[in-house]
Amino acid sequence: MTDDKKATRRLRSQDWFDNPEHLDLTALYLERFMNYGTTPEELRSGKPIIGIAQSGSDLNPCNRHHLELAKRLRDGIRDAGGIPIEFPTHPLFENCKRPTAALDRNLAYLGLVEILYGYPLDGVILTTGCDKTTPSALMAASTVDIPAIVFSGGPMLDGWNDGDLVGSGTVIWRSRRKYAAGEITRKQFLEAALDSAPSVGHCNTMGTASTMNAMAEALGMSLTGCAAIPAAYRERGQMAYRTGRRAVELVLEDIKPSDILTREAFLNAIKVNSAIGGSTNAQPHLMAMAKHAGVTLNPDDWQVHGYDIPLLANVQPAGAYLGERFHRAGGVPAIMWELLKAGKIDGGCPTVTGKTMAENLEGRESDDREVIRPFAEPLRERAGFLVLKGNLFDFAIMKMSVVSDSFRQRYLQEPGREGVFEGRAIVFDGSEDYHKRINDPSLDIDENCILVIRGAGPKGWPGSAEVVNMQPPDHLLKRGIMSLPTIGDGRQSGTADSPSILNASPESAAGGGLAWVRTGDTIRIDFNKGLCDMLVDDAEIERRKAEGIPKVPGDATPWQMIYRQTVTELADGATIRDADAFRQISRTPPRH
Ligand code: FES
Ligand code: MG
Repeated sequence: MTDDKKATRRLRSQDWFDNPEHLDLTALYLERFMNYGTTPEELRSGKPIIGIAQSGSDLNPCNRHHLELAKRLRDGIRDAGGIPIEFPTHPLFENCKRPTAALDRNLAYLGLVEILYGYPLDGVILTTGCDKTTPSALMAASTVDIPAIVFSGGPMLDGWNDGDLVGSGTVIWRSRRKYAAGEITRKQFLEAALDSAPSVGHCNTMGTASTMNAMAEALGMSLTGCAAIPAAYRERGQMAYRTGRRAVELVLEDIKPSDILTREAFLNAIKVNSAIGGSTNAQPHLMAMAKHAGVTLNPDDWQVHGYDIPLLANVQPAGAYLGERFHRAGGVPAIMWELLKAGKIDGGCPTVTGKTMAENLEGRESDDREVIRPFAEPLRERAGFLVLKGNLFDFAIMKMSVVSDSFRQRYLQEPGREGVFEGRAIVFDGSEDYHKRINDPSLDIDENCILVIRGAGPKGWPGSAEVVNMQPPDHLLKRGIMSLPTIGDGRQSGTADSPSILNASPESAAGGGLAWVRTGDTIRIDFNKGLCDMLVDDAEIERRKAEGIPKVPGDATPWQMIYRQTVTELADGATIRDADAFRQISRTPPRH
C-alpha cells in the first residue's frame, strides 16, 4: 500500500476537520492539533486517523513498555498512509490497585467509550497487557464499533530462581504454602517472588494477562501470533509495526469489531481457554465482552463447549513452563491449529487480518511437543471449567486443568469418579476474617472441611476480589495437605493452582445463597452432576434470612458507590447494567 491510498468513503474524522457547513468549528478543531507540529493539510487529507489507546504508564508497569512500542505502531501507521494520535487510558494495574483492579475495569471501559466516540478517530489500536486492559478495551471497541485491533505487550521473560523456573503469581501461591509449612525462610520467599519478574512485560505464567491476550487473538482481534511474543523480544517491535500498518487498512476496508466478534468467535475463545489452561477470570471478561458485542453467551456455554476440551499447553500454573518457551513452541496459533485439526473450533471466523481463522493458522503446527501437546496426547483430559449450581448459588465454576492428582483422588475419587464430597463448612466474611481465623484451633479444620468465603463479589468487596484460593491452616500444610475444597463469591488469580469453586453468583451481598450458610453446616458437592448444596432445610434457611445479609464495607469513593449501584453478577460478566443497550454508537456522529 502507498501513501496515496485513500478511503473511498468519507471518514468519520472529516466530520471534525473538513466540514464545509461549519467553517468556524473546523477551524476550532484544527488549530490546537497543530501546536505539536501536525499540519492542517494532514488533518484535512482524508487519511485515516488512528488512535493509539495507550495503556502503559508508570502506574501500570506491566504495560509500560507500550510507551516505547508505540513508536513502532506510529511507524506502521505512517507507512500505510495513516495519522497516529496517541492518548492515555485509565491505569489498570492488577497487583496494586486497591481494593482491586476489577473495580476499575468498567471505569476504564466508560472512559475509552467516551474517547473513541467523542474524538476524531477513524480506527484504534488497543494496547493491552495486564489483566483488565484487554477486556476493558475490547468492550469499549464493541460499544463504539470503529475499526479496532489489539496489540498485546507480551509477557516478561522467564523467571529463574535457584535453577527452577519461577512464574508470576504462581511462585507466590506456592511459596506461601512452603513458608507456612516451614520449608523456606522469609528471605527465600521474597527472592523467589522477585526473580519471577526479570524484564518488562506482563505476567509470564498463563495467568489472566496471558489468557486475555490469547482470548483477543482467539477471537480474531489481533494479528496471528501477537499474544505470546515476549515483551523484550525483537519480534514484539516488529509485530507493533505490522499492527500499525494493518490498523490503517482496517479503516480503508471498513472492518469493524462487529464483523469479527460473533458467537462462533466467542465459542472458539472458550475452547482455547480450556486448551491453554487459562484463567478463571476469562469467564466474567468473555461474558462482558460478548455482552457489549451484542452476542448471546450463556453461563452454561463454559460447560457445554469448554469442559471436554483437553489441556494442551504445558504452561504454569496448570503445567511446567513459562511464556518464552510457549511462544517458541508456537503460542496461540499452534494451540488453535490442534483444535482446528481436531474439528473443535470454527475455522471460518473472520479476523482482523482480513482472512479467516483457518487461513491464519495454516502451517502453524508446533514442533515442540513437550510444551504444546498434540490433541490426542494431552496433558489432561476434560480441562475446561466445570459449571456448578445449587442452593448456595445459581452459577459457579471450577477450573479443572489445575486440579491435582492427589486432590482428584481424595475428592473426585477417580478413576471410579463417584465424585461426591460432603464436608463441614468453615465460613469467612471477607479475607481479613479468613487471615485472622484460619489458624484458630477452635475451628478444628481437617481434610473433611470446605472453606467458604463471602462478601468478595462485585458488590460486596466492591469489585470482586481474588481471594477464593484460600490455603489450608498451617497444621494441614505441615501434614502435606496442600489444598482443601474452597467456595466463594469472589474470584482467584489466574496464576493460582487451587481447586476452587468460585465466581459464585448471585453473590452474598446481593442475597445469594452463600449469605445463609453457617460454619458447621454440611455442604455436598456432586462433581458429576454439577451440584453444590448446603444440607440445611428450607425452614432453617428462611429463619436465617431474618438475620439479614452479612455486612460488607461501605463505599470509600464516589466510583465505588456508582459501581455498586450498576454492576451485574460475575455470571453475567459484572458489567454496567443496561450499558449493553448502547451499541455501534459511532454510526451516529456525536453532536458538536
Ligand atoms: Fe499485571 Fe500480572 S500483574 S500482568
Ligand atoms: Mg489477578
